[in-house]
Amino acid sequence: KDDVLILAIESSCDETAAAVVKNGREVLSNVINTQIAIHTEYGGVVPEIASRKHIENINPVIRKALEDAGVTLDDIDAIGVTYGPGLVGALLVGVAEAKAIAFAKNKPLVGVHHIEGHISANYVENKELEPPFVALVVSGGHTHLVKVNDYGEYEIVGRTRDDAAGEAFDKVARAIGLGYPGGPKIDKLAKEGNPDAIEFPRAHVDDAPYDFSFSGIKSAVLNYINSANMQGKEINRADVAASFQKAVVDALVSRAVRLAKECGMDKLAIAGGVASNSALRAAIQEACAKNNIGFYSPSPILCTDNAAMIGAAAYYEYIKGVRHGYDLNAVPNLKL
Ligand code: KG4
Ligand code: ZN
Repeated sequence: KDDVLILAIESSCDETAAAVVKNGREVLSNVINTQIAIHTEYGGVVPEIASRKHIENINPVIRKALEDAGVTLDDIDAIGVTYGPGLVGALLVGVAEAKAIAFAKNKPLVGVHHIEGHISANYVENKELEPPFVALVVSGGHTHLVKVNDYGEYEIVGRTRDDAAGEAFDKVARAIGLGYPGGPKIDKLAKEGNPDAIEFPRAHVDDAPYDFSFSGIKSAVLNYINSANMQGKEINRADVAASFQKAVVDALVSRAVRLAKECGMDKLAIAGGVASNSALRAAIQEACAKNNIGFYSPSPILCTDNAAMIGAAAYYEYIKGVRHGYDLNAVPNLKL
């Protein structure tokens, strides 16, 4: 049998997810149990609750992933699992489950970096995409500009110095009363606003042209809202959302495209929860077209946390010979 079937597990934050992926590119099933509704009550992810929900959900989610794919554990060639970065208690649930299945069924175990998973989501729907390419990873916890030199070979060229892009979206959304998670809500509201209404700053990091800083933009938005409040002026929330979003998108797109041009890479892929932002997708697509750079992105369901992307990443680690032992542990600050 030549095909490689990976059962992949993801539990690094507030999604309990399992998927069956064939040869790193074909998703046979992709089951996601999101806890968003539970954490919304608290305005953000509560780690202890996330861990407990993962424990309740993980077995049914895996069972459904196998069922949807029409396979049993005996058909699976390897177990792939996210072992970092993320919330330690949340990660531990997936890692312990993956080790238990690997041990009970005597299957190889392949630990995967969460960001490598996000990047690999691009392989699923873009069958022709192969390294080298530039990847812009933008999520609630990460903002990384990465040179993907080969499968499993990553060079981080830029990162955020403070807030992640998604974190900035979530904080600004809270400030204008949109609730959690804020990214999709700002995306929607911004469509009714004028992105040039308010000039928010685009921060630069001295001597690090590819690094990002979003806390300045976030503070500028908060200051804008506060001073309007003090003057008793009504703010136009759609204009604030659109102008803030434009500032973030400008910062992301300009650096990503400049890196692709400077290192002579003609492909650019985006990944992570914020990659489903419609303004970011439109702006980066336009900039790529203008510069003859091929643009790649996963569809929204593969942008947010899921296990199909972990299965894609695990496949390329697996065929390179990567195997983890039963001492695999959750590593909350795992380096790419
Ligand atoms: O990748 P992800 O699901 O989880 C992490 O690994 O962090 O990303 C979640 C983040 C949240 O901050 C959420 O607000 C943001 O992605 N997000 C968006 C959009 N959809 C999700 N941000 C901007 N626009 C969107 N459409
Ligand atoms: Zn993620």
